[in-house]
Amino acid sequence: MTGGFRFNVTRTDGQARTGVIATARGEIRTPAFMPVGTAATVKAMHPEAVKALGADIVLANTYHLMLRPGAERVAELGGLHRFMNWPWPILTDSGGFQVMSLAKLRKLDEDGVTFQSHIDGARHRLTPERAMEIQALLGSDIQMQFDECVRLPCEEDEARRAMLLSLRWAERSRAAFTPAPGRALFGIVQGGASPALRIESATALTGMDFHGYALGGLAVGEPQEIMLAMIETALPLLPAGKPRYLMGVGAPDDLLESVRRGIDMFDCVMPTRAGRHGLAYTRRGRLNLRNARHAGDPAPVDPLSASAAARTYSRAYLHHLVKSGEILGMMLLTEINLAYYEDLMEAARRAIAAGDYADFCARTKEDWALGEG
Ligand code: GUN
Repeated sequence: MTGGFRFNVTRTDGQARTGVIATARGEIRTPAFMPVGTAATVKAMHPEAVKALGADIVLANTYHLMLRPGAERVAELGGLHRFMNWPWPILTDSGGFQVMSLAKLRKLDEDGVTFQSHIDGARHRLTPERAMEIQALLGSDIQMQFDECVRLPCEEDEARRAMLLSLRWAERSRAAFTPAPGRALFGIVQGGASPALRIESATALTGMDFHGYALGGLAVGEPQEIMLAMIETALPLLPAGKPRYLMGVGAPDDLLESVRRGIDMFDCVMPTRAGRHGLAYTRRGRLNLRNARHAGDPAPVDPLSASAAARTYSRAYLHHLVKSGEILGMMLLTEINLAYYEDLMEAARRAIAAGDYADFCARTKEDWALGEG
């Protein structure tokens, strides 16, 4: 499978790599952090502001958009890019993971999954073929195979069953994918916390020749060492010339350690969700603006941040906004957090290009350890 979607690794530093993914809707600099735009919006942010912070791509969800407003409706309105006024690349998740975490009365069988909407209880069905059809209707640039993710810890038999089902769904997703110039389909490695299952999954998926490969079923309750061990097990089996995406990860330290091991792409609700709950990610670690000690503090969140919001607004003002439940508090903290994540990825790209990645990680972690100063 080819056709306009390209990945060019420009530099490596140990296992870490930096490069550029070319899609029909623009380039994605890697390592890349994708802000989560579940329901066709990165919550509390204007699309132009998301782009201005340095995001080249956002993620949207099949599950949410099929329920509301509906994939056919989005297609009639000219596709997701036009609908949400985000003309740059969009990756869509395939829905299975969200069905398992959000939907009511789920019933999984060989063919797919039937579930009730968490919004109105209506019955819906997703199969690999329907998940591909929805992602094509949305106009996604990077589609994900339909898969089943198990929570950890999990019995090996259960992890094996879900991994093998995900392989059969990978074949069906691939057969149902409609190639278009610059559009891609990624396979998803499953296998729980078992190295043997991860190896089996990665090997089989590599044989199916996807445009890129994701690691799924991680950051689902396991300690970081397990996640990093699964990355170290799976990545050497995946083709070096294709993007590697760690799904649903993570905290800033997870990003640094995963990039060190060769991951190219991430998505996570952490910066946006934390921003709506009064938390700020900064060079000096994470601040809880709800805390009373900020009530009289005129200092900005981070005077050295590239984010104007982090340099401008006082901790006291943000504390007031958060305590008052003001919308602006959520907007400013979301912006501050996404700026932090995007700047961290930009700094990682520069460090890899300079052959300085290990030192960069050490310096970054030292700053986190200093605390808020
Ligand atoms: N998001 C986070 N983890 C996963 C996963 O395992 N599969 C899918 N499809 N999405 C995810």
